[in-house]
Amino acid sequence: MFLLKPYLGSTHARAEKYWARKVERCVTVDHLRQVMERRVPPIVREYYRGGADDEITLRDNIEAFRRERFKPRSGVQLEAVEMHTEIFGDEIDLPVIAAPVGSLRMIWPRGEEAAAKAIKQSGSICTVSNFAGTDLEEIRAASNGPCWFQLYMIGGEQVAVRSIMRARHAGYSALVLTIDTAVPGNRAHHESMGASLTIGGTLIQKLRFAPQMWRHLSWLQSYYSDGGMMEFRNVILDDGRPMPYTDIGTQLRASAVTWEHLPRIREHWGSRPIIIKGVQCVEDACLAAEHGVDAIVVSNHGGRQLDRVYPTLYILREIVPALKGSGVKVFLDGGIRSGTDAVIALAHGADAVLIGRAYAYGLGAGGETGVRKAFTILKKEIEDTMRLLGCRSIHDLQADTHLRTHPFAANRL
Ligand SMILES: Cc1cc2nc3c(=O)[nH]c(=O)nc-3n(C[C@H](O)[C@H](O)[C@H](O)COP(=O)(O)O)c2cc1C
Repeated sequence: MFLLKPYLGSTHARAEKYWARKVERCVTVDHLRQVMERRVPPIVREYYRGGADDEITLRDNIEAFRRERFKPRSGVQLEAVEMHTEIFGDEIDLPVIAAPVGSLRMIWPRGEEAAAKAIKQSGSICTVSNFAGTDLEEIRAASNGPCWFQLYMIGGEQVAVRSIMRARHAGYSALVLTIDTAVPGNRAHHESMGASLTIGGTLIQKLRFAPQMWRHLSWLQSYYSDGGMMEFRNVILDDGRPMPYTDIGTQLRASAVTWEHLPRIREHWGSRPIIIKGVQCVEDACLAAEHGVDAIVVSNHGGRQLDRVYPTLYILREIVPALKGSGVKVFLDGGIRSGTDAVIALAHGADAVLIGRAYAYGLGAGGETGVRKAFTILKKEIEDTMRLLGCRSIHDLQADTHLRTHPFAANRL
């Protein structure tokens, strides 16, 4: 493979131009998903697309936004639309932040760096997953903009402390603690395709994937130009080596994050903001506030953990009034596929939204160009929706004013 590296590098460079042309023609995030699905083999695509069990929550997250209806004010000409917002001292160009998405290096060479660069150029914040395949320092250098670090307790407390200290020194400005992964979600569909064989299978078992790899040669060449199977570069085990790409499930089972961990995490992280991700009820939102966190993400992990939970948009509507006046920022993720969805979440009181698949699809479709395109699409959709609503600033959005409560719209899940 080493001898093939220069050849694979040049084929990847050619492929990058080819896929960039496809990306340029995309008008919606769903178009980016379609391009990504053409580029990557089904077993890889499914990791990014899929959800837990029957995927009820994955679908509901999206459906909840589709069932909302606007109340526009017409005959309004806006000179400009205010889309900027300030989060923990950083001014961002749109109220959309990149959520932590693990293993980005599987869909694009040095995927985390490509994404971080594009996210910075798009004027947003990049959240780097604990399961990144690239060193935290390199991602931060590629971004040169605001970056947050997402933490699990993989490998135990000492391993987590090492990651926290590294992220601090590398200049990550907030810590995102994900609390919804006591065990990994049951990604039944992905598993039925043979997902675990790609990691732990014998050579003979892996050969079953050969036909789909052959049909997605462009991805395969790019993947090997980047060295093939990644390792978890920022989970440094006690022997000083990064954790190899393994069965994440066993690791997660052994390392659930609990509220008791918070004081010690705070001790190591210092005074920079801490965000709790995976809040799904008012009780946990209030607990987070009592623990003095700076923000929460109302999230069900994009429908990848417990299936049949409520879509995040509806949980947001319960939590926003409960946290009013607490000073805790409320973000939402799950199901955001368009700028219109983002506008709806803001009208319901979110301070900003996070996107997972929307930018991961962009990355899988065309690397840095694809991620930039995902943000460009969302930005345009937010701006157009605001103009059509006759609303000048995202800070003026309100459910009472800009959304309908008529029974047609109230025909909710
Ligand atoms: C492929 C994939 C990998 C993910 N990896 C992580 C992760 O490492 N850490 C984490 O906290 N959340 C992870 N998430 C969840 C996202 O941060 C986010 O909550 C979710 O994608 C939001 O839903 P959306 O994809 O509908 O936008 C992942 C999501 C996807 C789709």
